[in-house]
Parts: sequence; C-alpha cells; structure tokens
Amino acid sequence: MREISSDYGRVVVGTKDELFAQAVALTEAQRLLSRPGRVLWALTGGSTPAAFYQWCVTTRALPEALVRETHFTVSDERHVLLDSAESNFGNAERALFAPLAVEDERRHPWMVAWPVAEAAEAYRKTMLILAGPGRGYDVCFLGMGDDCHTASLFPGTPLLHDDGGLLFGGQEVPGKGWRLTITPTGLLACGLVVVMALGAGKADALHRVMRGPSDPLIVPSQILKTCAGRVVWLVDEAAAARL
Ligand code: 6PG
Repeated sequence: MREISSDYGRVVVGTKDELFAQAVALTEAQRLLSRPGRVLWALTGGSTPAAFYQWCVTTRALPEALVRETHFTVSDERHVLLDSAESNFGNAERALFAPLAVEDERRHPWMVAWPVAEAAEAYRKTMLILAGPGRGYDVCFLGMGDDCHTASLFPGTPLLHDDGGLLFGGQEVPGKGWRLTITPTGLLACGLVVVMALGAGKADALHRVMRGPSDPLIVPSQILKTCAGRVVWLVDEAAAARL
C-alpha cells in the first residue's frame, strides 16, 4: 500500500483485499479509542459495501469484540422498506448482520416506515441517545458516486449549504426519490470517516474532488475538507489513476 496526502484527508492506495483489511483495522483502532461497548459504526450503500460485507463474512475478518460491542447503522438510506434490495440497512442486515449474528438491539435502521421528516427526527433522537449530544458516529463509512456525491449529498442538494446545524436530515433528491442522510454537520461530528472508492469508474470523480476547483455544492465529496484530519480514503490503483 502507498499513501498520498490531500486537502481532503489521507489517501491509502492498495488492492481491494488490502483496503478491506485496512477498513477493518481502522474501525477496530477506533473501537479501542471509543467508549467501551458503545462504538457506533455507520456502514453505507452501493456495490463496494456489498463486496466488503461478503469479504468480511468469508474471511472472518471482523474481530469478535468489534462485532459484539458495536452499534450498527448506515450513514444514508433510501426511503424504502428494509426488505427492498434498495435498502442500505436491509442489505447490511442480509449480508453482514445476519451471518455474524449481530444482536437485534445493536442494529439501528432509519425509521423508513414513517414520512421522511418524522423518520429523520426519530433517527436524530436515537443517535442522540447512542452517541451523546453533538456527537456523530464513531466510525462513518462512505462511498462516492461518479457525480462525486457522498452519502445522499448529491450535487446541488440544499443540505450542502444549509443543514440547520442538524447531524442527520431527509430530503427529496430529484430523480432519486426521498433520501435520509448524514449532513455536513454530522460528518464534522464523527470520530473517523472512511471513504471507499474502487475501480476505474471512480478515477475522474476522485480527480475532480482532489485536484479540481473547490466547489462542494457541485462536488459534494469536497465537503470532507472540513474534517480532513479525520478522513481516510481507501482507493485502488484504478481509482487513483488520475491523482
Ligand atoms: C448509496 C450510497 C452512495 C454510494 C455511492 C457509491 O446509498 O448508494 O450511500 O453514496 O456510496 O453511490 O456507490 P458504489 O459503491 O456502488 O460505487
């Protein structure tokens, strides 16, 4: 593995297996720094987490204490029921929590059966109890789309310029339906942010984020500059090709 420095956090470049192992090592290190038994780990959606879950289960890479002592959630969610293949939490349940027998009381989905505003409010209350006032996740996993979105912060989304100081919110994303998501304020409140971006399809987006003009409203992943000291990007050589 090699490292590249950037204004948006540490960039670690390696193979998929190296990066997945690094993701686990970073999370475990954060657990050891966190309140005993109370680590709050947000996973995310997309194809990269799906591969990561499968890898975790087949390699048994997650330390037993990490599985036992973690509260699991997702950093953004589609407004669909958990049994939908579109549900980020539902996919994590099926591919990771069930195979690892994570206790029910440590699984914290967004309240997708409720209208979005109520769902966001209920989730904020749950996270307040789990994390404490003004605190976000201990570990927040994110991905990045080809349009440089991260979590459900898409180009032009109002939450990027005004999230009302709230850590979590809900909004309609044109063409993508209703989404629930961590906000820029929420990202600032996390202990560690890990962004996984793999494959040649991410090379242009990564270049725009790290080497292009700064405009987080259009290039949402650039919002991570605000908390760069706590951000680690895990990218493969194909994604890093234009850095
Ligand atoms: C989602 C995500 C989204 C995702 C990126 C990257 O719900 O889809 O939160 O931000 O992480 O679109 O997805 P891939 O891993 O599929 O490239």
